[in-house]
Amino acid sequence: MVLEEFYKLNNGQRIPKIALGTWQTPNDVAAQVVEAAIDAGYRHIDTAIAYENESGVGLGLKNALKKTGIHRESIFITSKIPAEVKSRDATIRCIQESMERLDCYHVDLMLVHAPRPWTEMDKPGANRYYKENVDVWNALEEAYEAGKFRSIGVSNFSIDDLNNILAGGRVVPAVNQIRVHIGHVPTDLIDFCEQNGILVEAYSPNATGRLMKIPEVCAMAEKYHVSVPQLASRFVLQLGLLPLPKSVHEERIRQNAKLDFEINSTDMAVLLEMDGL
Ligand SMILES: NC(=O)c1ccc[n+]([C@@H]2O[C@H](COP(=O)([O-])OP(=O)(O)OC[C@H]3O[C@@H](n4cnc5c(N)ncnc54)[C@H](OP(=O)(O)O)[C@@H]3O)[C@@H](O)[C@H]2O)c1
Repeated sequence: MVLEEFYKLNNGQRIPKIALGTWQTPNDVAAQVVEAAIDAGYRHIDTAIAYENESGVGLGLKNALKKTGIHRESIFITSKIPAEVKSRDATIRCIQESMERLDCYHVDLMLVHAPRPWTEMDKPGANRYYKENVDVWNALEEAYEAGKFRSIGVSNFSIDDLNNILAGGRVVPAVNQIRVHIGHVPTDLIDFCEQNGILVEAYSPNATGRLMKIPEVCAMAEKYHVSVPQLASRFVLQLGLLPLPKSVHEERIRQNAKLDFEINSTDMAVLLEMDGL
């Protein structure tokens, strides 16, 4: 069962193979969503400072542990330093505030949310923030070495952004969390990450809901008697990546993790050929 399976990170830590995404999950529903996910067997929750729901996630975690008797060590929590935070001091402040909101004595994985502030992400010729990203990374390394985080990583980093960290840091990122879904598979970046021992987490595995409107994808899901989100996460897993499906509905959260079927190689090739989604 996928919910009980793990990948191994480059520092030896285990990471559950599927996570509940929480972007656009309001703080006041995050607690019940996290409780429902843990009840359904999820052991990995993905949040971020920018999602403004860390306190809800922390509360849900606390309630679920109390209710089920599951040990904190069995749950994997990821958060992220905002894309706009690009100094050492601001990173240190964010770490402390994030841990307070999550009400955790350690965070399993802390990521740099993006290499540049969001308003500058897709601007050609914009500042690459190479020096600043190393400063942020060094602050994460110190917190990692102090035991606040079990692992550290990045998100939305290109090959150039990763090379900058590999050259300027002491710790190789454990993870690069990037957008990967049927119709959007950045093969060169995925290969680079694999060659450098960096696990790729696939965010927006359902293309934030858009995949459900693509007739060819719906037809393929029907063929396997599964929903589009099930097909979408299975596709990501068969690429060796870690899907982060998001839902706020309990029945969907349960269904999205039922992934014990296999997409055959011909259909994987068809899905891989879809582009531009
Ligand atoms: N690092 C980054 O920069 C970054 C960027 C984007 C996302 N992420 C992470 O990746 C996670 C997932 O990405 P995403 O939020 O774009 O979501 P997604 O999983 O690609 O799609 C979520 C959408 O699909 C719907 N949905 C989910 N399961 C469904 C089902 N079984 N049937 C029908 N509809 C269903 C959800 O609606 P309901 O909620 O109403 O069910 C929501 O509208 C995020 O939550 C976040 O944790 C990270």
